Amino acid sequence: MAQYDVVIIGAGPGGYNCAIRCGQLGLKTAIVEGGPTLGGTCLNVGCMPSKALLHASEMFEQASKEFAHLGIEVTPKLNLKQMLAQKAESVTALTKGVEFLMKKNKVDWLKGWGVIAGPGKVRVGDETHDAKNIIIATGSEPTPLPGVTVDNKRVLDSTGALSIPEVPKSMVVIGAGIIGLELGSVWRRLGAEVTVVEFLPRITPGMDEEVAKTFQRTLTKQGMSFKLGSKVTGAKASAKGVEVTVEPVAGGAVETLKADYVLVAIGRRPYTNGLGLESVGIALDKRGFVPNDHGKTTAAGVWVVGDATTGVMLAHKAEEEGVAVAELIAGKAGHVNYGVIPSVVYSSPEVAWVGKTEDDLKVEGVAYKAGKFPFSANSRAKINHETEGFVKILADAKTDRILGAHIIGPQASEMIGEYCVAMEFSAASEDIARTCHPHPTRSEALRQAAMAVEGWAMQA
Ligand code: FAD
Ligand code: NAI
Repeated sequence: MAQYDVVIIGAGPGGYNCAIRCGQLGLKTAIVEGGPTLGGTCLNVGCMPSKALLHASEMFEQASKEFAHLGIEVTPKLNLKQMLAQKAESVTALTKGVEFLMKKNKVDWLKGWGVIAGPGKVRVGDETHDAKNIIIATGSEPTPLPGVTVDNKRVLDSTGALSIPEVPKSMVVIGAGIIGLELGSVWRRLGAEVTVVEFLPRITPGMDEEVAKTFQRTLTKQGMSFKLGSKVTGAKASAKGVEVTVEPVAGGAVETLKADYVLVAIGRRPYTNGLGLESVGIALDKRGFVPNDHGKTTAAGVWVVGDATTGVMLAHKAEEEGVAVAELIAGKAGHVNYGVIPSVVYSSPEVAWVGKTEDDLKVEGVAYKAGKFPFSANSRAKINHETEGFVKILADAKTDRILGAHIIGPQASEMIGEYCVAMEFSAASEDIARTCHPHPTRSEALRQAAMAVEGWAMQA
């Protein structure tokens, strides 16, 4: 049995990025993965396949509805089999890419489910390996909803909703969070009637409320229906469809919704089943997460990164933590700036944000100034006929330091990085306002919003 400096359990973005960094830093490293491919939730059944379908379905909808106005006349015909096949091809290429990166960085892939078998020991199948450091990177799984049994035939979780073999005529989505709205958008664009049932009185908790309201208006205009403040109490599946019982959270009449398919997307929970945490005395917190202090668990030599521990469940957060822990193990100053982890909904238009929302700042009692700029006043957005949405930047009232930034509009995911860099450098909104941006680009709206903080936005 080999002796390792580091054994990482789980090969998602937390685990595989940690492995790469460990390899770069000269640590003898192995990664344990129980699934048939590397890449974890993100590459296999998460970020990547969902973005593949979002891209393809957006192209389909544009060709159906928007090309004619640009003077391009086509009648697109959906080939769902091919749309799903190109998604699968991309996923395979990406997971093979991670395999290549493991080899390149001299990381051993130990195939099978890993169990911590006491301090410094990881068992995989019949073999037990010695590890100076063990890293838990076991990720998360969909949270089940009592009364609604996922069969991935008619009642789907996110994995099932990535591979429906036909376009549903109707679909009920339970949960107006990121998965529900992204995958709901995919199937709506391809022709499904989508009804989203959400427990709270608003969609996308965590998103700035003003942005969320605009977002909901846009999705409604696109044809998605919302039942807010409503809870699903049960679902009855048959070979042909599902009957979902819904009742208002505040009390009231029970309603039955009929649909071809139901997607349950009410959140994800950490996954640590059968991991042997008790062998090193690690206790989970109330919500099932492995608690950590700068990546360290309560057990000496055992670390945790990604969805298995506290914080937002995002691939780039898992990656940051993986890199930081590798550097700490190698004696470097690994660090994660949790204040600058961006979030994105890859809908159309996209929504992206980083840092504080207005509500956060109000609750914290921080005096702030807001600068806002609409894409309807941005020349690039106008010539592209994509004028929905706006940019909002929040800056400290006294120091002008950027505290949060919010974008709703096409390509928001690509533009939010500018504000992330600025915030990482503790920039003031004036630093953005005084930085020359190329014309004509959507990014000019980011600058104009920063100018608006001091009341000198020039183009609106
Ligand atoms: P995971 O990616 O979950 O990887 C954990 C791995 O550990 C898995 O491969 C699992 O098989 C393995 N494992 C578990 N236990 C063991 C064991 N005992 N032994 C061996 N192997 C084990 N995030 C974004 O940032 N952007 C997005 O666009 C995005 N889209 C998403 C879309 C969907 C539909 C879903 C479901 C999620 C999405 N996410 C997105 C979230 C993202 O996938 C997760 O935050 C990310 O994958 C977490 O990485 P991780 O390394 O912590 O865990
Ligand atoms: P989520 O936490 O984003 O949203 C779940 C929603 O379901 C919330 O609005 C919640 O109020 C609602 N809800 C909870 N219980 C309910 C009930 N009983 N009935 C009706 N509504 C209920 O979770 P989601 O969408 O499942 O995604 C899980 C995580 O995966 C996200 O939080 C995110 O971290 C990650 N993800 C990230 C993506 C991205 O970065 N683009 C894409 C997809 C997922």
